[in-house]
Amino acid sequence: MRTIEWNNNMITLIDQTLLPGEYRIIECKTVPSLCEAIGSLRIRGAPALGAAGGYGVALAAHTSTHTNTTTTTSFERFMHDLHAAAETIKQTRPTAINLAWGVDRVIAAVRESGTGRIDEARGVALREAVAIAKEDVQRNKRLSKHGAALLEDGDTVLTHCNAGRLACVDVGTAIGVIRAAVAAGKEISVVSCETRPLNQGSRITTWELMQDGIPVTLIADSAAGSMMRKGLIDRVIVGADRITRDVVFNKIGTYTHSVLAKEHDIPFYVAAPISTFDPVRLEYDVVIEERDPDELRRIGDVMLAPAGAMVHNPAFDATPVENITAVITEDGVIYPNESWKNSFS
Ligand code: MRU
Repeated sequence: MRTIEWNNNMITLIDQTLLPGEYRIIECKTVPSLCEAIGSLRIRGAPALGAAGGYGVALAAHTSTHTNTTTTTSFERFMHDLHAAAETIKQTRPTAINLAWGVDRVIAAVRESGTGRIDEARGVALREAVAIAKEDVQRNKRLSKHGAALLEDGDTVLTHCNAGRLACVDVGTAIGVIRAAVAAGKEISVVSCETRPLNQGSRITTWELMQDGIPVTLIADSAAGSMMRKGLIDRVIVGADRITRDVVFNKIGTYTHSVLAKEHDIPFYVAAPISTFDPVRLEYDVVIEERDPDELRRIGDVMLAPAGAMVHNPAFDATPVENITAVITEDGVIYPNESWKNSFS
């Protein structure tokens, strides 16, 4: 199945916290259960969060207890439910712009439909959410083709976190590019950084690539610089959670890789759909999510640090545009010095 789907009036998704040990599909029948799934990273990755946001509003529409039988007041109360759910969903994870984008797109579709009927509004919300999910797959396919042309036969590509099919509805962005290059007959091997503290690289990227039979080597995050210095990395490709005029937000550790890539003259690519661009904000307007200290202090029941140790645990960092060779989108490859400004209009 795809990373996230709508089935029988509920959202179904692959629980990514259990991978690679267990492949389990979970059901979200209410908005609070979806918010829990987003907050605990059962569903994660910017494009997948866009779909989750859209489906979340559709779920709010389907679970609202207001019905058509009553008056205009009833529709207003229904819309009030939708807006309240929209705000709650958006607040679960503030950095990836796709989440708010997906939520706002479905709310706008309902409003613009002009309907005053609850049953019709439910249909509009669901159709828009399904469209977001379908478009994500198509966009990633186009993006992947554009990116594949940048890879050369024999390349070893370093990636960070997971920008694969599980971070999207399907296909993937950074990993989609690698898949498309392999499908085009190029021999590509991947170096996957483990991505502490939640290990999306070791748990998810490595798992996805092994399933596809694409050679992948897992490294500690701190091994990247040494590999670059030894000439073992040809390119870096990562995904993005938000792209502003001045920086690219992505998983914590991305900035470090960009500095290392610059130092060693290695092309540094970001693969992301246009929905990840933020035309309004700049770096310091964006909230970087600070996560639970226990993600660093322990793994399960095993303590990695003394209980109560002070912790700083930002989920994302910002990479200045100057460190980026190009951004690969569904509409083509954007080089920061040329078409950069137009991408934000
Ligand atoms: O905290 P996560 O796992 O949601 O972070 C995910 C990332 O940082 C990805 O690189 C990004 O969302 C791009 S996914 C195509």
